[in-house]
Amino acid sequence: TQAVTVLGIESSCDDTAAAVVRGVPGDMTVLSSVVFGQSDLHVDFGGVVPEIAARAHAERLDVSIARALDAAGVSLSGVDAIAATCGPGLIGGVVAGVMTAKGLAAATGKPLYGINHLAGHALTPRLSDGISFPYLMLLVSGGHCQFLLAHGPDDFTRLGGTIDDAPGEAFDKVARLIGLGQPGGPAVETAARAGDAARFAFPRPLSGKAGCDLSFSGLKTAVLRARDDIVAGQAGLTVQDQADLAASFQAAVSDSLAGKTRRALEVYLDLEPAQPTLCVAGGVAANMAIRSKLETVCADAGVAFNAPPLSLCTDNAAMIAAAAIEQMPYRDPDGMDLSARPRMPL
Ligand code: KG4
Ligand code: ZN
Repeated sequence: TQAVTVLGIESSCDDTAAAVVRGVPGDMTVLSSVVFGQSDLHVDFGGVVPEIAARAHAERLDVSIARALDAAGVSLSGVDAIAATCGPGLIGGVVAGVMTAKGLAAATGKPLYGINHLAGHALTPRLSDGISFPYLMLLVSGGHCQFLLAHGPDDFTRLGGTIDDAPGEAFDKVARLIGLGQPGGPAVETAARAGDAARFAFPRPLSGKAGCDLSFSGLKTAVLRARDDIVAGQAGLTVQDQADLAASFQAAVSDSLAGKTRRALEVYLDLEPAQPTLCVAGGVAANMAIRSKLETVCADAGVAFNAPPLSLCTDNAAMIAAAAIEQMPYRDPDGMDLSARPRMPL
């Protein structure tokens, strides 16, 4: 196969991103990756506001693409294909990205590839490290939580995932409950370092149930109750209370993820993979306590642990361009009838 150069576009949540990736399946180089975050725009609202996100994407896509091409030293006529996230995500942002990609494809005559955002995440280990199929992927972020068996570029089996909140969402909510800043993940992790993880016995929901499903909303409620018990007896939370709540919560999340990872690995190892590997992606994979627990689980099972660099784990457009390079040998480009699918399944 000949190396191709692909322009990728991502706008499905609160990051506007464009990137240029060059290579062949399993051997790719990120020539540029531009990400405009929007958290400053949504901070006062306690969550992503779809209308604000859509407008910001529409305003920033052109400059993201221009900068990505410029940084890669490639002109639009020099790319071989254009790829954009076509779902799942917030409809306004996905439409903005798909329309922009169609415009560029129509103007240049280059092939257009609509890419599933979750496939982009799931294929990231191919981009970062050329990990071979089949591998097991644990995707844990503010919006996603699932175990995926990656058999091939367009072939995934979902083994399970959260039945309510995503873990990143739980970190963010717990941070708010105990008076820490946003984003909650890093704030909770930092506070937890000085905390006693054994002070509160928070639940490990669904741990006794078969399968690989997870639940985090009950855990959040348990933290709320523990906080209320403390503040019923004193003026507010002390720094030590915050640290203990953070550490106990983080231990519960780590245990839940580790327990279900053991189960997912059993299913995966039945496939008898030549180079068994657990890959993680998503912002929560940055958590060192969670990461080291997963590394232990992998070591016990004789499975390699792979975590791509954080810039590729969180939302970005390089993973979208890379997914197009991976999928090209297996599928046709999309036509001008490519539509945005906010609830697109993997
Ligand atoms: O993948 P990501 O950047 O965006 C999406 O959700 O798509 O993930 C962001 C999430 C936030 O909820 C954030 O609190 C969480 O990842 N996060 C962490 C850590 N760093 C980021 N959660 C736990 N520990 C961390 N160190
Ligand atoms: Zn994502």
